[in-house]
Amino acid sequence: MDHFNYKDGQLHAEDVPLSRIAAEVGTPVYVYSAATLTRHFGLFRQALDWTDHLVCFAVKANSNLAVLKLMADQGAGMDVVSGGEYARAKAAGVPGERIVFSGVGKTVSEMRQAIEGGIRQFNIESEPEMRALSALAVSMGAEVPVAIRVNPDVDAKTHEKIATGKSENKFGIPIAKSRQVYAEAAALPGLKVVGIDVHIGSQLTDLDPYRAAYAKVADLTRALRADGHDITRLDLGGGLGIPYRRDNNAPPLPIEYGQVIRDAVGDLGCEIEIEPGRNIVGNAGVLLSSVIYVKEGEGRDFLIVDAAMNDLLRPAMYGAHHDIVPVREAALGAELRPFDVVGPVCESGDTFQKGTQLPSVAAGDLIAFRSAGAYGAVMASEYNSRPLVPEVLVSGDHFAVIRARPTFEEMLSRDTIPEWL
Ligand code: LLP
Repeated sequence: MDHFNYKDGQLHAEDVPLSRIAAEVGTPVYVYSAATLTRHFGLFRQALDWTDHLVCFAVKANSNLAVLKLMADQGAGMDVVSGGEYARAKAAGVPGERIVFSGVGKTVSEMRQAIEGGIRQFNIESEPEMRALSALAVSMGAEVPVAIRVNPDVDAKTHEKIATGKSENKFGIPIAKSRQVYAEAAALPGLKVVGIDVHIGSQLTDLDPYRAAYAKVADLTRALRADGHDITRLDLGGGLGIPYRRDNNAPPLPIEYGQVIRDAVGDLGCEIEIEPGRNIVGNAGVLLSSVIYVKEGEGRDFLIVDAAMNDLLRPAMYGAHHDIVPVREAALGAELRPFDVVGPVCESGDTFQKGTQLPSVAAGDLIAFRSAGAYGAVMASEYNSRPLVPEVLVSGDHFAVIRARPTFEEMLSRDTIPEWL
């Protein structure tokens, strides 16, 4: 459930008509609903309320400081994968002891930054990384908590670009080899082994891959304990999918996911960490856009809108679907006709959807791309020198711009022409 609904014939974010935001901020613009974010975060907490846990929001899904602050105020931890994300989490007020550092290629300077600023745990992804972290920790006189990310060789049954738990993927250490790696970790100075980490992919719509992966983690926990390791924490990753289409079967709910966790690892007495991103913020955001032109093509009509692939990359990159809806509610029984919805960028790949059924639309009308709160603004760029898309946060009947649209002057000021040119 989200808080984007039609009221009085106009699509609203909570109690704010999207048309008001478009008038005051311009388009394209991302609009998030604070109530939806809070609600979704609460569902994960509730799903794990049977045990000690920390829900670490995956910052990569949406890293706006206001969104992170909203999450932090609810007690969220953060899962970060770069020095920049770590800095954002800290700037949003998240204490180091609630930040886990994931990622396959942490640099020494990123690891130093996190040790200096405080860290709950590093999720180690390779032996060279583990050795580098040990050497760094020793040089800093620190002892850092680590979990090792194991690759359980499970098919997450999701898009190939976002599946991470198969042995051919670059992530983690093969589970078959993990006891040996844990033995080395325990022997290395500066590291304190605290747990196991696993993440098998994103936009999972079936719980079976989780069952398979978590069963392997449970077995590994017992084996590692028998080897003498003190395994007190399990980081079970993120990945629970969201409904991108209103009309099809919704993926499992957080409460069902929590039950899968309980069944698989509930008897081990470990503190549970999870790293959801998309499920918290995906349906808490829309991308609001205006129609520039309605262009009649040969055998098809194009809706040329002012949002483009640089603002919302997912359709171009993954062939992803985002429901497109008119902001002015279609009259009951209004005739629909098909449009190819495209952006202004000079590539045919800048196509959001083909044959979308929409009521009659005209230049200047507003449309919204639903389910765009996750991996939307964070993946935006200034390709074609289009200003980085702004973001707005709505709460009740008020809203705030939480990232302003840069002016051309600001954009240009980031470049420098060398004096010898
Ligand atoms: N933890 C780790 C280690 C991850 O790699 C990810 C996502 C998450 C947690 C959060 O997963 P979520 O709950 O959001 O599914 N850009 C792609 C998604 C990439 C996901 C990468 N890792 C997309 O737009 O679909």
